[in-house]
Amino acid sequence: MQTIGKPRVFSGIQPSGGLHLGNYLGAIRNWVRNQDKYDNIFCIVDLHTITVAQDPAALRENTLDLAAVYLASGIKREQAMFVQSHIPAHAELAWILECFIPMGWLERMTQFKEKSGRERERSSTGLFAYPALMAADILLYDTNFVPVGEDQRQHIELTRDIGQRMNQRFGELFVLPEAMIQAAGARIMGLDDPEKKMSKSLAADATGHAIFMLDSPDVIRKKVARAQTDAQPEVRFPAGPGVTNLLEIYRTIQDKDWATVEKEFAGKSYSVLKTAVADTVIETLTPIQERYRQIRSDDGALMQQLRGAAERLTPIANTTLYRVQEAVGLR
Ligand code: TYM
Repeated sequence: MQTIGKPRVFSGIQPSGGLHLGNYLGAIRNWVRNQDKYDNIFCIVDLHTITVAQDPAALRENTLDLAAVYLASGIKREQAMFVQSHIPAHAELAWILECFIPMGWLERMTQFKEKSGRERERSSTGLFAYPALMAADILLYDTNFVPVGEDQRQHIELTRDIGQRMNQRFGELFVLPEAMIQAAGARIMGLDDPEKKMSKSLAADATGHAIFMLDSPDVIRKKVARAQTDAQPEVRFPAGPGVTNLLEIYRTIQDKDWATVEKEFAGKSYSVLKTAVADTVIETLTPIQERYRQIRSDDGALMQQLRGAAERLTPIANTTLYRVQEAVGLR
């Protein structure tokens, strides 16, 4: 239960297809940049993905795709990168946690409200219990930090709450994790509607909504060119949400602060801004796409790596699971 050596980082992404720039700037890029500072575990959360309907063949494909994108983005091969369903302890701990989480806590989760929408009665029980599984992911590995985008903050708070509640009742069972959310790129908005967070589900309805990590340069240019701006003749400050979002993408990739980008673009035309944004996005994604194609050309090696990591992590996960089982009287 104690951290020996580097602090532990755990994070995950759903293999639901269509990784977008928000996923990259809000999560993956930060994992890559900080990987040497931490003892990292990067998960492909396929059990979370089946909380909404999936095509089985597409899910298998998207799982390998996500693993390849992690590596292509710069996650080193020696990092622990694994598929959630390969370690049964995730589902087992999630069940135990569910028995201690009041319904009211889950009913307050904004992601559930958004995802279930008007279909609440028809959405799966898995979608409702989703945050319990996420808490299990994090708590199983005595995680210190969880690097995510802003939209996951509430789930990490819930993870702390359930961890604390069980620690109070049973003694020190869990390490309480902290969200690690960067000041830049933690909430990238839709290009077509800068009031809405860039998301896979909205991207399914509108082609101009998101830039996907595997979009060609041509497509990226077209999407940025069509992005919503303000009703001003040029870039002016304070800028509206569309221009602010484009600048946020630019400054995150370029590691620049607001004062610098304001100076760079004040009084410039929207086409100058959009060209700069498209250029920097293309420059970032093109090498990732090339490496992605190489990695996907050997799925056998990729699967072997994922299986190997799951084998190495299983004893760590089971140590926590057994501790919890013993505390609650199951062992
Ligand atoms: P998911 O798959 O929806 O998103 C993966 C990561 O991308 C971030 N993200 C964004 N960041 C900035 N701007 C955006 N528009 C944007 N959209 C998404 C998310 O914050 C996330 O970091 N529940 C999680 C997956 C998960 C998990 C975990 C994460 C399951 N278990 C344990 C951390 C630890 C999710 O659905 O992420």
